[in-house]
Amino acid sequence: MTREVLVYSDKQALVEAAFASILDRIRSAIAQRQTCSIALSGGSTPQPLYAALAHVDLPWHQIQIFWGDERYVPASHPDSNYGMTKRVWLDLVPIPAENVHPMPTNLASPQLAADEYDRQIRANFGLEAGSIPVFDIVLLGMGDDGHTASLFPHTAALSVLDRLVTVGEKDGQPRLTVTFPLINQARSVIFLVSGASKQTALAAVFALTGDETIYPSRSIRPQDELLWLLDAAAADGLVT
Ligand code: 6PG
Repeated sequence: MTREVLVYSDKQALVEAAFASILDRIRSAIAQRQTCSIALSGGSTPQPLYAALAHVDLPWHQIQIFWGDERYVPASHPDSNYGMTKRVWLDLVPIPAENVHPMPTNLASPQLAADEYDRQIRANFGLEAGSIPVFDIVLLGMGDDGHTASLFPHTAALSVLDRLVTVGEKDGQPRLTVTFPLINQARSVIFLVSGASKQTALAAVFALTGDETIYPSRSIRPQDELLWLLDAAAADGLVT
C-alpha cells in the first residue's frame, strides 16, 4: 500500500484537487482495462465534486457507478446519497442507466437490500461467492466520529468480513454499507475530508496506535493506494 496525504488551503482547492485526482484515475483505469468501477461516498463534502464531474467529457459507457453506503430512504428523500448524486451529476451526463447501481432501499428489510446489493456487485464483476471485487476507485468521507461509509463506531458492521455489503446503523437508523474487505481490495481509496470538525477524529485515525472500533477509518488499508485529500481546516495540527 502507498499512502499519500495532501492538504489544500480551503475546500474549493480540495475539491479541485479531488476532481483532478479522480479524473486521472478514471482515465487510467479505462486506458488499462477499458472500464472503470467507482464506489461513491455520500454526505455533503463530495457534492461540489460531483457537480464538477457533470461537466466533463468522459466515455460514460465505460464507467460503472456504485455507492459505498446509503441511508435506508427512497431516492426522493433529501437524505438519499443516490438522490443527491443523481440530481447534481448523473442526470446531467449521458451515462447508460445500466451503469448506475444505486443501493436498493425499497425492499422489505435493510438486510434483504444488503444481500441484494451484494449479489448485484458480484454479478457486475462476474464473481463467484467468496471472491472480492477490485474496484478501481472507492471514494470515502469521514465523519466527525471517525466513521467512514456507514461503518460507525462500536457497530456490528465493523466485524462483517465475509460479505461485500452489510447493514450499518447510525442513531438507531439503518444504513447500507460496503464492508472493509470490499474497500481494502480497491486499487485506489480516496478520502475527501474537509472542515475543523474532523480534526479530532483525523488525529486519532492517524495516530500510531488506537482502537479501530472507536475510529473505524483506521481500518482502511487498501491493497494499493490510499490517498487522503484534506483541507487545512481539517488537517490543522495533524501529524502525518
Ligand atoms: C454518508 C457517508 C458518510 C460521510 C461522512 C462525512 O452517507 O453520510 O457516506 O460516510 O462520508 O459522514 O460526511 P460529510 O461529508 O457530510 O461531512
